[in-house]
Amino acid sequence: MLPLKLQQLQQKLFELRKQDELELQHGDTGFASAPSNIALLKYWGKEEGCTQIPVNSSVSLTLGGFRSTTQVSVLGRFFPLDDQPAQRPFEHTLTLKNSKKEVLHNLVPPKMQNFLNALLLPYAPEIALNIESTNSFPTGCGIASSASGYAALVSAMADLLQLNKHFTQTELNYWLCEWARVGSGSATRSALCEDDALFVAWERQGENKELSTTTKKINHHKNWQDICHMVLVLDEEEKEISSSQGHGLANTSPLQAIRVANAHRLYPHLIRAIEEFNFSEVARITEEDAFAMHAVMQSAEQPARYLNGTVAKIIASFIEYRTKNNIDAFWTLDAGPNLHFIAKKDSEASLEIFLGDMQKSLEKIPSVLRNDFEHGGVRIGINHVV
Ligand code: PMV
Repeated sequence: MLPLKLQQLQQKLFELRKQDELELQHGDTGFASAPSNIALLKYWGKEEGCTQIPVNSSVSLTLGGFRSTTQVSVLGRFFPLDDQPAQRPFEHTLTLKNSKKEVLHNLVPPKMQNFLNALLLPYAPEIALNIESTNSFPTGCGIASSASGYAALVSAMADLLQLNKHFTQTELNYWLCEWARVGSGSATRSALCEDDALFVAWERQGENKELSTTTKKINHHKNWQDICHMVLVLDEEEKEISSSQGHGLANTSPLQAIRVANAHRLYPHLIRAIEEFNFSEVARITEEDAFAMHAVMQSAEQPARYLNGTVAKIIASFIEYRTKNNIDAFWTLDAGPNLHFIAKKDSEASLEIFLGDMQKSLEKIPSVLRNDFEHGGVRIGINHVV
């Protein structure tokens, strides 16, 4: 069930169609790009019986240099409102490409079909969409493409529907973040159309039937502009358990209740530490929650062991190296075995030396990817795309 406010915005689009102020023709296009993100306080586990409501609030760092760029084009045309076809005359189509522009995928998964049908209701139920999306980062590099992918898709839709003309900036951000959330929870943290959304919180609110979420930018201290982010790519294989399955399994772990209670406690402290540039506090909270999420994953009925022996050894070496060299850096790990490192500018060179040593020490040489923060948040419309 969609939140009332989102239903009202969909209804507003329907009213615009009725007044001939919203028109979609075969071949009309929309274009946008959106960044990926890495969670510092993780979203792991959903409320049962709700559409994508997390069991705890989460916080992420926006990865402006790792982006999905998406074009949506219209297949079909509007029929008179009182003469709607029983079925959509066209099917949705999807082409996903990697950073080398090679086609990775060209099937629309059933989950995405439902998502697209819901996105077009009630204002364009007879239209189908042709989606072409390219990631600027390599596949299987430990950067979630579902976050940037769904955020770019809804942003391209916002361009197609020219929502900047019909909605206020607040309505636009709400529409983007809510639809991205419905597509993939973590995508909501990539969907804010605000230039300086370097840290984003996805906050859970209310109780029982009144549960909802808000996605908001954290007013970060200016010193965060100078940090660096690198990924040690240890394994490029697809995930053994999809994140949808993983969220479902989280509750089967006896440790999940403890992790969730701790995440509730940590959330305001993490926000404050980001606002104040308390780097060591952000590092402590991020590492604590990453360990907690992986403990939950490993103790679920069907365990996922991303924090395996190799990863554990690298983390231990990193902590030893950090203490010995007195560097300001921390690690985190998502639902995959690739380690993310975040460091202060003056610790960047030391982190590079550490990662270089790791590359030399491992039998299967991992690559190191570096994110460039310059490109920021969502960019809607062809003229603004990086
Ligand atoms: O958005 P999903 O369903 O792919 O879940 C993302 C889960 C993690 O990446 C492990 C954590 C997070 O908060 O991004």
